[in-house]
Amino acid sequence: MELNMDLNRTIPQLDWGPYLAERTQGMTSSAIRELLKLTQQPDIISFAGGLPAPDFFPLREIEEACKYVIREQGPTALQYSATEGYGPLKEYLSTAMHKYGVPAKPVNVLLTNGSQQALDLIGKVFINPGDFVLTGRPTYLGAIQAWNAYQARFHTVNLDDDGMVVDEIEHAYEKAVADSGRPPKFIYVLPNFHNPAGTTLPLERRQQLAEIAVKLNLPVVEDDPYGQLRYEGEDIPPICTFIPERTIYLGTFSKTLTPGLRIGWIVCPEVLMQRFVQAKQGSDLHTGTFAQHVAADICQRGLLKPHVKKLCQVYKERRDTMLEALTEFWPAGSSWAHPDGGLFLWARVPEPVNTLEFFTEAVQEKVAYVPGINFYPNRDGGNQAMRLNFSYCPPDVIVEGIRRLGVALKKKIDV
Ligand SMILES: Cc1ncc(COP(=O)(O)O)c(C=O)c1O
Repeated sequence: MELNMDLNRTIPQLDWGPYLAERTQGMTSSAIRELLKLTQQPDIISFAGGLPAPDFFPLREIEEACKYVIREQGPTALQYSATEGYGPLKEYLSTAMHKYGVPAKPVNVLLTNGSQQALDLIGKVFINPGDFVLTGRPTYLGAIQAWNAYQARFHTVNLDDDGMVVDEIEHAYEKAVADSGRPPKFIYVLPNFHNPAGTTLPLERRQQLAEIAVKLNLPVVEDDPYGQLRYEGEDIPPICTFIPERTIYLGTFSKTLTPGLRIGWIVCPEVLMQRFVQAKQGSDLHTGTFAQHVAADICQRGLLKPHVKKLCQVYKERRDTMLEALTEFWPAGSSWAHPDGGLFLWARVPEPVNTLEFFTEAVQEKVAYVPGINFYPNRDGGNQAMRLNFSYCPPDVIVEGIRRLGVALKKKIDV
């Protein structure tokens, strides 16, 4: 056959639609990524992303670790490596996690490309089209996005000031069974300084959740990126302390070291490891060797702990600044949570303001946040709520951004 390579002819366009997998219909762009694009204009005050403060990235420590790794480990640090992760880093994490209450051993730790990849691998390993996941409303947007791609459905339970109302889980379970004819796949829970709600599950609720998981015979996915960023109160044992045999625990260096290294980890029962390893092999073979070596060096030299201590001081000050500014500038009828740690504050505005519609006005005032509705997997709430990040902007900028939002809100309410 002779191919017609005449480049001047009109080339018919391909309609890609019929070629795409059905699952792509459930894939949506993360509202946050879209918002971040919009808020990348330099003069916008952004409370939208979940970004750590770049001024406090440990640049010097990372630079030294990079040099050390190249000098001492040479080509090994740049070679393909084990899917499970770099041994010395797994050793370090196992010890550190153990102290914190997570039953980690090197054999049941898997290094991932951020904990976002862990969420995706969980979707890949557990979710068939139409399966239900039980979670809170609101919940982490990135988890909704990861599992939508596997055609998951969600039944949700409410959150109050103490986080997930675990009493409602059994009812959500029954709804999932009624709707799909099979049990939901797992309970997804954010125990510490919830993204977006800022709440922390008290000890009794963690124990109760563990009992419910056993009673309903369900696995639990415990997503804990913020646990080390506590500004007041005492650490509370993670849920996996109570039910290690049925918990998949997720951690990350994104909020403590830097997100750009893209290192997270799964701690799971050993019997599951092989499944996750196989799923990860198909995705990316392994997490970046060099980044793992650099992180391991920083951890082994004892630099992480003092760095996290410093971050806690900085973020506590920023949280307090935001709380004070809200009190000073926002209209009566607004309310907000007081997070004991993490990066987010969940604020409610009075009727008739709708935070999705108000977003356009906020951006005109050069301030960005994430409208609450994005954190509701069934888009059935959050119209009066917004997520405000307090870690990224310096204190004076936080005050100015909250002031501008307050002025715009008051104008809206007075109309
Ligand atoms: C609750 C939660 N889980 C997972 C992630 C993903 O984090 P990373 O992939 O950077 O570790 C985030 C990021 O903000 C998060 O808030």
